[in-house]
Amino acid sequence: MTGRIPRYFIDDLLSRVDIVDLIDKHVPLKKAGANFVARCPFHTEKTPSFSVNRNKQFFHCFGCGASGNAIGFLMDFNHLDFIEAVEDLATFAGLEVPRETIETSGKHLKSEFVSDYYQLLEQVAAFYVQCLRTDEEGKKAISYLKSRGITDSLAKDFMIGFAPDEWRVLSSRFDQNQLVQAGMSIEKEGKVYDRFRGRLMFPIRDKRGRTVGFGGRVLNDTLPKYLNSPETSVFHKSKEVYGLYELLRKDSKPKRILVVEGYLDVIALAGNGIHYAVATLGTSTSLDHLELLFRFASELVLCFDGDSAGQKAAWRAVSSVFPALKAGRQIRIMVLPEQHDPDSLINKEGKELFDSRINNSQPLSEYFYEHFTKDLKLSEIENLSFLLGEAEEYLKKLPIGSFRELMVDKLSGLSNRHVLDRQAMLAYSLQVKKHRQKSNRLSVASSVLALLIQNPRLIALIEKKDIDWNYLDFEGIEKFRQILDVLLTKRPVNYGVLIEHYRDHPNETIIKKLATVEFPDENIEKLFLESINRLFVETNAALIDKLLEKSKKDGLSKSEKEDLVALLAKKHSDVIL
Ligand code: UTP
Ligand code: MN
Repeated sequence: MTGRIPRYFIDDLLSRVDIVDLIDKHVPLKKAGANFVARCPFHTEKTPSFSVNRNKQFFHCFGCGASGNAIGFLMDFNHLDFIEAVEDLATFAGLEVPRETIETSGKHLKSEFVSDYYQLLEQVAAFYVQCLRTDEEGKKAISYLKSRGITDSLAKDFMIGFAPDEWRVLSSRFDQNQLVQAGMSIEKEGKVYDRFRGRLMFPIRDKRGRTVGFGGRVLNDTLPKYLNSPETSVFHKSKEVYGLYELLRKDSKPKRILVVEGYLDVIALAGNGIHYAVATLGTSTSLDHLELLFRFASELVLCFDGDSAGQKAAWRAVSSVFPALKAGRQIRIMVLPEQHDPDSLINKEGKELFDSRINNSQPLSEYFYEHFTKDLKLSEIENLSFLLGEAEEYLKKLPIGSFRELMVDKLSGLSNRHVLDRQAMLAYSLQVKKHRQKSNRLSVASSVLALLIQNPRLIALIEKKDIDWNYLDFEGIEKFRQILDVLLTKRPVNYGVLIEHYRDHPNETIIKKLATVEFPDENIEKLFLESINRLFVETNAALIDKLLEKSKKDGLSKSEKEDLVALLAKKHSDVIL
C-alpha cells in the first residue's frame, strides 16, 4: 500500500487533460455550438442530451442529471473508485502518479500491513477451504452444506471453508500480531486465540476479489448463529456487500442487482440460477452500499422478509436511500411472504416463480406513496396536510433532477385525485406554486456564484477591489462565502478543477447545479460586474426597508439613523461597487 495522492497533483492533472478528448475516446462526440454532444452513456435515450463543455471541463446530461469532471466521468463510465480513476486519467495524460511519503515510521509500518492483511486473509481463506475438504470435522460441515442444498461447485465459487473447533489453529500457522490486526484472532490477557471456531466460513471479498473479512456460521442452532469479522482497516461493513465479486465474475454488467439479507440467501439464489444477488453484512442498507452497487447496475431490487421486522427494515431502507436516487437509477422493493427468506422461497417455488416476484416488485415511488396513504383517507384536510408535510420531508432529501420532479408531480396527482374539499386543493396548489417559483427563479447571488464557478478567472476582476463582503446579507450567504473562499485560496483554473474540491462535500450538489445555468457567450465580465453590483444594491435596499420598518414601529436609535442616512446616500448613487 502506498501513500496518499497529493492534492496538487490532482489539480494539475485535471488542468492538463481535455475532457472533450477523454470522453470522445469512450463516447464519440459531435460538435454542437459551444458544446459537444452525444447520446448519454448513463441512460438509454434516442436523442442526445449528454453534453460536454471544453471551457468548463465538465459533462452534464440534461436527461438523467449525470455530471462531473474528467475523474467523475471515468468513475461512472468504467465503474472505478476515485483512486483508480485518477490512475487511469494519469495514464491517459502520460503522467506518473506521485504518492506522499509517510513520515513517521509507526504510520509507515501500519500502512505496509494493509497490503499484508489482504495477503493474510487470502491465505486464511485458502486454509479454511483446505480444512473443509480434508479435516475429519470438515465432513460434518460438508454434510451440513449438502443438507442446505449447496453443491460442491457452488461451495467452490463462494470459496466456502471451515474453521476447525480449536483455539489456536490460525495462531500456530500465521503471524499472531497480523491475525489480531486483521480481526481473525482475539488477544486477551496476553493470550491470542482464534475468533472463528467450529464454523462454516464465508469469505467476504471486495469488488476486486480481495478477501476483506469473513462471516462464520455454526453448524447447529447454537447462538450466536453468525460471527462476522470486526471492522478493520480493510473491512467496513457499511461499505462492502457479500457476493459482489462472485456476481461480477458471472456478469460484469448486470441489468439489475438484488439486495438480500443473508449469506446463504445469496448462495441459494446463485445455486438456483439467480446470479445477481448480494447481501448486506448484518447491517441495514447504507448509502455507500447503494452508490457502490449503482456503479454496476442501474436497477436495484431491495428484498425484505415479510414479517414485521422485515417491513420495518424496508421502510427504514427506503427513507435512507432517498439521497441516492437520480434519474436513470431505479430502486424496487420486494417484500417476501411471511415465514420466508429468499433461500427458503426459491427452494420451495423454483426460479420461475421467484423471477416473476422480482419482476412484479414495487417501484420505490409506488411503495413510498402506498406507505403514506395506506391508512389515510385523503378526503380529510388534516390527512392531506399530514401527507404533504410528511412526504415533503422525504422529497427534500432527493437530489434535484427529474426523479424529484416526478415524485413531486405524483404527490400532487395523488392528493388531487382524493381531495374533494376545494379549500384544501387551493391551499395545496398555492404551496406547489410557491415551491416552483422558489426553485425556478435564480437569485442574484446564485447567478454571481454560477458565473464565478463556470469562469473561475472572473475572481481576478473583483479581488483587487475593496469589497466589504461582510456587508452582504441574503439567504445562503454562508455557502456564498465558503465558495468564494475556495475560489480565492485554491485558484482553480477551470470548473473541472473546482468541482474536484467539492467531491463528497455538502455543497457539491449546489455547485453542480450552478454549473448548468446558461449564460450568453459574450460579455461575461460585464454581466458579472453588474450582477455583483446588483447584489449590493439589493442588500442595500433590504437594509433600508428593515430600518424604515423599525422606525415606524419602535423608532430608531441615533446610530441606526446614521446607518439609514448612509444607506440612503449609497442608494442614490446606485453604483455601490
Ligand atoms: P439470518 O438469520 O436471516 O440468516 O440473518 P441466514 O443468512 O438466512 O442464514 P440461515 O439461513 O439461518 O443459515 C441474515 C444475516 O444477518 C447477519 C448475517 O449477515 C446473516 O447472513 N447475522 C445474522 C449476523 O451477523 N449474526 C447473527 O447472529 C445472525
Ligand atoms: Mn436463511
